[in-house]
Amino acid sequence: METLRHIVLFIHLLGFAVLFGSWAVQAFGGKKQLTSLMNVGLLIAGVAGLALAAPWGLPADGRMNYAKIGTKLVILLIIGALIGIGMARQKRGAAVPPVLFWGVGVLTAVNAGIAAIW
Ligand code: HEM
Repeated sequence: METLRHIVLFIHLLGFAVLFGSWAVQAFGGKKQLTSLMNVGLLIAGVAGLALAAPWGLPADGRMNYAKIGTKLVILLIIGALIGIGMARQKRGAAVPPVLFWGVGVLTAVNAGIAAIW
Protein backbone atom coordinates (compact mmCIF):
# COMPACT_ATOMS: atom_id res chain seq x y z
CA MET A 1 0.00 0.00 0.00
CA GLU A 2 2.87 2.34 0.78
CA THR A 3 4.23 1.84 -2.74
CA LEU A 4 0.80 2.60 -4.22
CA ARG A 5 0.68 5.80 -2.15
CA HIS A 6 4.07 6.80 -3.55
CA ILE A 7 2.78 6.18 -7.08
CA VAL A 8 -0.25 8.44 -6.40
CA LEU A 9 2.15 11.08 -5.00
CA PHE A 10 4.18 10.77 -8.22
CA ILE A 11 1.00 11.37 -10.27
CA HIS A 12 0.21 14.35 -8.00
CA LEU A 13 3.66 15.77 -8.76
CA LEU A 14 3.17 15.22 -12.52
CA GLY A 15 -0.06 17.24 -12.27
CA PHE A 16 1.85 20.01 -10.48
CA ALA A 17 4.56 19.90 -13.17
CA VAL A 18 2.00 20.16 -16.01
CA LEU A 19 0.21 23.07 -14.30
CA PHE A 20 3.30 25.05 -13.32
CA GLY A 21 5.21 24.17 -16.50
CA SER A 22 2.40 25.25 -18.82
CA TRP A 23 2.02 28.47 -16.82
CA ALA A 24 5.80 29.17 -16.88
CA VAL A 25 5.89 28.73 -20.68
CA GLN A 26 3.20 31.42 -20.98
CA ALA A 27 4.74 33.69 -18.33
CA PHE A 28 8.32 33.76 -19.59
CA GLY A 29 8.41 34.51 -23.32
CA GLY A 30 4.83 33.40 -23.98
CA LYS A 31 1.65 35.40 -24.65
CA LYS A 32 0.60 35.38 -20.97
CA GLN A 33 -2.57 33.49 -21.79
CA LEU A 34 -4.31 30.83 -19.73
CA THR A 35 -4.41 27.45 -21.48
CA SER A 36 -6.46 24.28 -21.17
CA LEU A 37 -3.24 22.39 -20.31
CA MET A 38 -3.26 24.31 -17.01
CA ASN A 39 -6.72 22.88 -16.32
CA VAL A 40 -5.42 19.38 -17.11
CA GLY A 41 -2.55 19.80 -14.64
CA LEU A 42 -4.91 21.21 -12.00
CA LEU A 43 -7.30 18.29 -12.47
CA ILE A 44 -4.52 15.68 -12.18
CA ALA A 45 -3.01 17.39 -9.09
CA GLY A 46 -6.49 17.80 -7.57
CA VAL A 47 -7.71 14.22 -8.07
CA ALA A 48 -4.40 12.70 -6.91
CA GLY A 49 -4.28 15.21 -4.00
CA LEU A 50 -7.76 14.17 -2.83
CA ALA A 51 -6.68 10.51 -3.01
CA LEU A 52 -3.64 11.39 -0.89
CA ALA A 53 -5.84 13.26 1.59
CA ALA A 54 -7.18 9.95 2.95
CA PRO A 55 -4.96 8.21 5.52
CA TRP A 56 -4.18 4.99 3.59
CA GLY A 57 -0.77 3.47 2.92
CA LEU A 58 0.98 5.55 5.59
CA PRO A 59 3.89 4.11 7.58
CA ALA A 60 2.86 2.93 11.09
CA ASP A 61 3.86 6.24 12.72
CA GLY A 62 2.42 8.34 9.88
CA ARG A 63 -0.02 11.19 10.56
CA MET A 64 -2.06 13.46 8.32
CA ASN A 65 -1.92 17.26 8.63
CA TYR A 66 -5.52 18.18 7.80
CA ALA A 67 -5.02 21.93 8.30
CA LYS A 68 -2.32 21.82 5.62
CA ILE A 69 -4.40 19.65 3.29
CA GLY A 70 -7.49 21.87 3.75
CA THR A 71 -5.45 25.00 3.00
CA LYS A 72 -4.09 23.38 -0.18
CA LEU A 73 -7.62 22.41 -1.25
CA VAL A 74 -8.89 25.99 -0.78
CA ILE A 75 -5.91 27.35 -2.78
CA LEU A 76 -6.54 24.77 -5.53
CA LEU A 77 -10.18 25.92 -5.79
CA ILE A 78 -9.03 29.56 -6.03
CA ILE A 79 -6.55 28.63 -8.81
CA GLY A 80 -9.40 26.85 -10.64
CA ALA A 81 -11.60 29.94 -10.31
CA LEU A 82 -8.82 32.21 -11.63
CA ILE A 83 -8.25 29.94 -14.65
CA GLY A 84 -12.01 29.70 -15.28
CA ILE A 85 -12.63 33.46 -15.10
CA GLY A 86 -9.50 34.23 -17.15
CA MET A 87 -10.33 31.72 -19.90
CA ALA A 88 -13.90 33.02 -20.15
CA ARG A 89 -12.50 36.51 -20.74
CA GLN A 90 -10.06 35.18 -23.33
CA LYS A 91 -12.92 33.52 -25.22
CA ARG A 92 -14.69 36.87 -25.40
CA GLY A 93 -11.52 38.29 -26.94
CA ALA A 94 -10.62 40.37 -23.86
CA ALA A 95 -7.15 40.41 -22.31
CA VAL A 96 -6.56 38.37 -19.14
CA PRO A 97 -6.05 40.79 -16.22
CA PRO A 98 -2.44 40.39 -14.93
CA VAL A 99 -3.71 39.68 -11.41
CA LEU A 100 -5.52 36.57 -12.70
CA PHE A 101 -2.59 35.37 -14.79
CA TRP A 102 0.11 35.89 -12.15
CA GLY A 103 -2.24 34.67 -9.42
CA VAL A 104 -2.32 31.21 -11.06
CA GLY A 105 1.48 30.86 -11.03
CA VAL A 106 2.07 32.39 -7.62
CA LEU A 107 -0.68 30.33 -5.92
CA THR A 108 0.58 27.14 -7.60
CA ALA A 109 4.07 27.88 -6.22
CA VAL A 110 2.53 28.69 -2.81
CA ASN A 111 0.76 25.29 -2.77
CA ALA A 112 4.00 23.49 -3.61
CA GLY A 113 5.74 25.54 -0.89
CA ILE A 114 3.06 24.64 1.66
CA ALA A 115 3.44 20.95 0.69
CA ALA A 116 7.20 21.01 1.13
CA ILE A 117 7.69 23.38 4.07
CA TRP A 118 4.57 23.25 6.38
C1 HEM B 1 -2.01 23.27 -7.36
C2 HEM B 1 -2.25 22.46 -6.39
C3 HEM B 1 -1.22 21.61 -5.67
C4 HEM B 1 0.16 21.63 -5.74
C5 HEM B 1 1.06 22.52 -6.58
C6 HEM B 1 0.63 20.58 -4.85
C7 HEM B 1 1.97 20.26 -4.64
C8 HEM B 1 2.44 19.21 -3.89
C9 HEM B 1 3.81 18.79 -3.76
C10 HEM B 1 4.99 19.47 -4.46
C11 HEM B 1 3.84 17.70 -2.92
C12 HEM B 1 5.09 16.90 -2.49
C13 HEM B 1 5.52 17.30 -1.12
C14 HEM B 1 6.35 16.26 -0.42
O1 HEM B 1 6.24 15.08 -0.72
O2 HEM B 1 7.09 16.68 0.47
C15 HEM B 1 2.49 17.43 -2.50
C16 HEM B 1 2.10 16.43 -1.64
C17 HEM B 1 0.82 16.23 -1.17
N1 HEM B 1 -0.32 16.93 -1.55
FE1 HEM B 1 -0.38 18.44 -2.89
N2 HEM B 1 -0.45 19.98 -4.23
C18 HEM B 1 -1.60 20.59 -4.71
C19 HEM B 1 -2.90 20.30 -4.35
C20 HEM B 1 -3.27 19.38 -3.38
C21 HEM B 1 -4.62 19.13 -2.94
C22 HEM B 1 -5.86 19.83 -3.49
C23 HEM B 1 -4.55 18.18 -1.96
C24 HEM B 1 -5.65 17.57 -1.14
C25 HEM B 1 -6.85 18.00 -1.01
C26 HEM B 1 -3.16 17.82 -1.80
C27 HEM B 1 -2.69 16.86 -0.92
C28 HEM B 1 -1.39 16.45 -0.82
C29 HEM B 1 -0.92 15.39 0.08
C30 HEM B 1 -1.80 14.63 1.08
C31 HEM B 1 0.44 15.24 -0.16
C32 HEM B 1 1.37 14.22 0.53
C33 HEM B 1 2.43 14.79 1.39
C34 HEM B 1 1.98 15.89 2.29
O3 HEM B 1 1.19 15.65 3.22
O4 HEM B 1 2.39 17.04 2.05
N3 HEM B 1 -2.41 18.56 -2.68
N4 HEM B 1 1.64 18.37 -3.10
